[in-house]
Parts: sequence; C-alpha cells; structure tokens
Amino acid sequence: MIYALSLVILILLFAAGILFKKLYALRLERSSVESAGRDNSLKTTWGKFDELLTSLLTIHEIGIVNAGTIKKEDFYQTVVECACELISSPRGSLMIHDVQTDELKIAASKNISKEVIESTRIKPGLGIAGRAFQTGETIFVTDPQQNARYKDFIGKEEQLEPFIAIPLKLKDKSFGVLNLHLPREKESFTDYDLKFLTLLAGETAITLENIKLYESLENFYLEMVQTLARVIDAKDSYTGDHAGRARKKARRLAEELNMPDQMLRYVEYAALLHDIGKIGIDGAILSKPGKLTHEEYEEIKKHPAIGYQILSPIHFLGPVAQMVLYHQEWYNGMGYPEGLKGEEIPLGARIVSTIDAWDAMRSDRSYRKALSLEIAEDELTKGAGQRFDPEVVKAFLKLERAGWPPFVK
Ligand SMILES: [Fe+2]
Repeated sequence: MIYALSLVILILLFAAGILFKKLYALRLERSSVESAGRDNSLKTTWGKFDELLTSLLTIHEIGIVNAGTIKKEDFYQTVVECACELISSPRGSLMIHDVQTDELKIAASKNISKEVIESTRIKPGLGIAGRAFQTGETIFVTDPQQNARYKDFIGKEEQLEPFIAIPLKLKDKSFGVLNLHLPREKESFTDYDLKFLTLLAGETAITLENIKLYESLENFYLEMVQTLARVIDAKDSYTGDHAGRARKKARRLAEELNMPDQMLRYVEYAALLHDIGKIGIDGAILSKPGKLTHEEYEEIKKHPAIGYQILSPIHFLGPVAQMVLYHQEWYNGMGYPEGLKGEEIPLGARIVSTIDAWDAMRSDRSYRKALSLEIAEDELTKGAGQRFDPEVVKAFLKLERAGWPPFVK
C-alpha cells in the first residue's frame, strides 16, 4: 500500500510539474507579446492569470487537500463555477461518462434547467459534447442551431447560445466533458480563454484521479478492516453481523443527534471498528461461557487501548481512534480506561457504547439467548445517566421504536 501511495504521489508531482511548466510558458508568451507593445488587451489577460491561479488552487485545495472528505458532486460543482468565473460565462455544465450505460450525463451545472439536466443523455460520438468526448479535441460551436451535429440536441432556448466543449482526459482517455456557453458580450473565445480552460480541465482530471485513488484505497482498507471486524465478532461468540448492524445504526443515530456531516462517517467507522482491539486478547477469555476472573476481566479491559494503538496511525480515520479508545467509558465516570465522565467522553464514543450494548443484549450469544425487546428497552432506560448518555438513549429508543427510518441526508 505504501508503494501504491508513493506511486500516486510521484504521478501527481509529475502532473503538477507539467501544469506549472505550461503556466510558465504562458507567462513567457505574455511577456514577449507585451514587449511588442500590445499591452492594453493584455492587462485584462494579466488579471485573468490571477483568476486562473485562484481557480487552479481552489480545485487543488478541494480535491487534494480535502481528499477523503469531499463528495465528487461538490468537486464537479466547484469546477463548473471556477470555469464560468474564469471566462465570465453565464452558464455551463460538466458531463461525466457513465461506463455502464455508455452515456454522458450532466454531473454539475450552472444556470441550466432541471429539465435539461435530467433529460440530457449523450452517446459518445453524438452531438458536440459526445464528439469532443470521443475525439479528445476541444470543439467550439458558434451557432448550435445551424450545426448538423448539434441541432437534434436543442430542446431549450438556453441551448441556442454558442458554446465550447472541452474533453476531460486522463492518460489520453476521456472521462467527461466541460461545456461552457459564450459570455454575452463576447463574439468568440480568445486564445487565452482556450488555454486557461485547457489548464483548468487538466487540473480537474488530475485532481479527480487523485480523489478516485484515495477512495479506492479507503474502500480497500475498509473492506479489509470489515473482514477483520467479523473475525473478531466470531471470536467474541457473536452470531450474525454484529459490527455491520452497529455500523448502520450508529450513522443514523449520529445524524439524529445533529452531528456535523463529516462526523457521521467517523461514527460509522468507530461502530464498525470499536472492538478491533480484541484481536490482541486471548480467544479463550473472550469466548469463556462462565464468569470471568478478576485477571481475565483486567485482560479484556485492555481492548480499547489496543484498538487505539491499531487505528491512531491511520490518517483518514481522523477521530475514530479516540472514539474506539473511549467506547467503554460510562457516563457517570465508572467506565474504563480513564474513567471519563459525561461530555468528557466523545459523543461518537457515547453513541457506539449505547449501540454496542443494545446489540449485545438483543443478540444470541454462545452462552445465552437474546434478551426480549421489552427487557432490553428496560435495561437501556435504567442505564441512562449511569452507563449511557440519557440524550443518546432517548434518540436511540425513538429510532428503534420508529423502525430505523432512512437517512435524512
Ligand atoms: Fe468493547
């Protein structure tokens, strides 16, 4: 995995180098033309450089720095906004190729009607966008109505404006198209507009690839860890998918308790991984049917700290390691490992603790049958303010009684 990451970083550095080389070439071009005395029109171009750099940095910031937390849709939207801003275009769209249906679909847009967004499906090779996608060449259309390739695709007034279609490519393979309509005050795109948009499309492609790589690494890692969590559940005499159940409920409960969007994912992972530290505990103790001795109990109590040691070096898991470390703390301060109290315990850990206890009560174990719904509810209510956070228990029981309604977000 380290090798794959280094490779990704090398590719990104190389690509960034090419981009900045292109930028530098543009600057040189600018200074030579300026010395020829045509500086009036170039004053605006110089201002555009600032805008271009700002756009490139915004895209870089969103895609690279926030990789792992940004949604692809938000990234696409930023690209469209930046591109429209850069050439003062009133409207634009970003189309992505759907490999399954072999169609280009609008993934983000500015000032395009909902009807057009939903109905636009273009096969590679068809229309202007489809042609730009297939050939990998930028295409500019001055009068869409007169263009045989495009006229069948015109359904709305807004599609009559001149526009440019720039393919989004990575390693010479198109994966989408950026369409921008001409600013009203302009008759045509300038050379600089085209160069700027090409640079922007290049940065978009590289950044998107980075997001994808990051996501696939993250998914790969999570799948591995999920398998591990199942192994631990089996070792811990759980039947069925304890970690999987806990994971879904934890995310929904975190949402119910108004946790910020980016935290929902972390709570979900904490629920999945909370007992990962049991990997370091003797299986004979974990599956012992009878009462544990003092020493055995002390051994079990090490699992949150072992889990923390395993998870804390993993950057993309953010606060998950802390939630895992404190999932056995009690609201009244009587838990372990540190005896934290009330809100000293991270909310994610209080959520995991409630869900874990509920699932343990409601599951058949190798040494006892599952508790009935009434008894489990009673136990949880009795534990509110003692072991569990009363607010978390209240929200949990509300969701449980409502049959876990789907996510709002
Ligand atoms: Fe635990």
